[in-house]
Amino acid sequence: MPEAKASRSFAKASVRDSEVEGHRVLLRADLNVPLDDGEVADDTRIRASLPTIELLRDRGASIVLVSHLDRPKGPDPSLSMTPVAKRLGELLDAPVKQAPAVVGDEVTAMASELAPGEVLLLENSRFEKGETKNDPALAEALAKLADVYVNDAFGTAHRAHATTEGVAHRLPGYAGLLLEQEVGQLTAVRDDPKRPLIVVLGGAKVTDKLGVIDRFLGFAEEILIGGAMCFSFFKAEGRDTGNSLVEDEGVEAAKRVLAEAEKSDTMLELPEDLVLGKKLDPGTETRELNGVDVPEDWMGLDVGANTSANFGRRIARAGTVFWNGPMGAFEIPPFDAATRAVAEAVAAAPGHTVVGGGDSVAALQRFGLADSVDWISTGGGASLELIEGRELPGVEALQDA
Ligand code: 3PG
Repeated sequence: MPEAKASRSFAKASVRDSEVEGHRVLLRADLNVPLDDGEVADDTRIRASLPTIELLRDRGASIVLVSHLDRPKGPDPSLSMTPVAKRLGELLDAPVKQAPAVVGDEVTAMASELAPGEVLLLENSRFEKGETKNDPALAEALAKLADVYVNDAFGTAHRAHATTEGVAHRLPGYAGLLLEQEVGQLTAVRDDPKRPLIVVLGGAKVTDKLGVIDRFLGFAEEILIGGAMCFSFFKAEGRDTGNSLVEDEGVEAAKRVLAEAEKSDTMLELPEDLVLGKKLDPGTETRELNGVDVPEDWMGLDVGANTSANFGRRIARAGTVFWNGPMGAFEIPPFDAATRAVAEAVAAAPGHTVVGGGDSVAALQRFGLADSVDWISTGGGASLELIEGRELPGVEALQDA
C-alpha cells in the first residue's frame, strides 16, 4: 500500500485543558449561516458550535462570541448577527446579549459586565474593514475584550483574519472542540486512512479540486470523478463535450493529472455514461448517453446510472471514503439521480465516511442521509486546504499543547 505523504497530529492546546473559571473568553465561531427573509435558514453551524459554548459556560466562563456572516464590505444591516443571536438563544435556552458593534466603548462596557455563563454576541466581524486585512489595531481591540481566546471556527480557519489569526497572538489561544474534531477527522483521512481509501470528487471546477487530486494521486487507491469537472478531463482526452459546462482553465491541469495517474498506483475513474439535457432547466428534454461524447446541442448534467452503480460498488468496498462535490446538477431533478446514488452509497458504506464541501453536505441533507455519515465537515474551503496539506492560519496561531 502507498505510504502516507505526511503525518502530523493535532498539537494545539485544547479548550478541554483550559482553566477559564471566572475568566472572560473571546470565542471565535463560524456562525456564517444562510439566511432567508431575515431568519436562519440552516442552523447546522450554530449547532456545531454549541458543545464549546456549553463547556465554557459549565466551567464558569463568560463568553464574548464573534463570527463573520457572509461577505459584507462594511456595515450592512441586512447582514447583522441579530437572526443568529435569536437562533443561538433558542438552542442554548438562555439569553444571548447582542453588541451593537464589533469593538468600541459600548462593546467594552457590555463585555465587562458579563456574569459567569453569560454570552455576548458581537456584531458581524466583517463590518470592520480591518477584519479581513488582519489589522493589528483591530486584533488588539478584540484582545482587550477578554483574557482567553478560543477558536472553534474551523470553517474560517483558512483565513488569516483579525478574529481568527491576529487576536490569537495576543491572548492565550485554545482550540475549540469542533475545530479539534474537524482537524482530527480530516487529518486522519489525509495521513492515515483505513485502506482502501476511495476519494469521490465532483462539482463544477477541476481547478478547485486540483490540490486535493494532487494530494491523493499516488496515495489513495481510487479517485472517482463526476460532476461538471469531468468535462475538463474529457476535453483533455479530445472528446466532444457539446454544450456541457467546461472549465477551460482546467483542461491543461486535467491533461497533467491524466498523465500522472497513468504512472501512479491510484486508479482515476471517470464517468462511462451521462444524463444529458438541452439546458439546465427542470422541464428540459433529457436523454441518457451510453458513452461520454456529448452530441452538439446537448449538455451533460449528471453522470449516468452505470457510472453511479460502479462508484457505489467501489464506495462499498472502501475502508475510508472522502467525498467532496456533487455528481451532477443535483438541485434540479432529474439531474439529482447520481448525487443521490453516491450519497446513498456513502451513507450505507461500512468504511469510515467523511464528507466536506457545502454542496455535498446540502445533498446529504436534502436526501435525509446526513445522520448516516461518520463526519460531515462544517468547512468548505478550510476542509479542502487541510486535505491539500496547507497550513490553516487559524489553527497555527494557537498555542501549542
Ligand atoms: C465558509 O462559509 O466557507 C466560511 O465561513 C468562510 O467564509 P469566506 O469564504 O467568506 O471566508
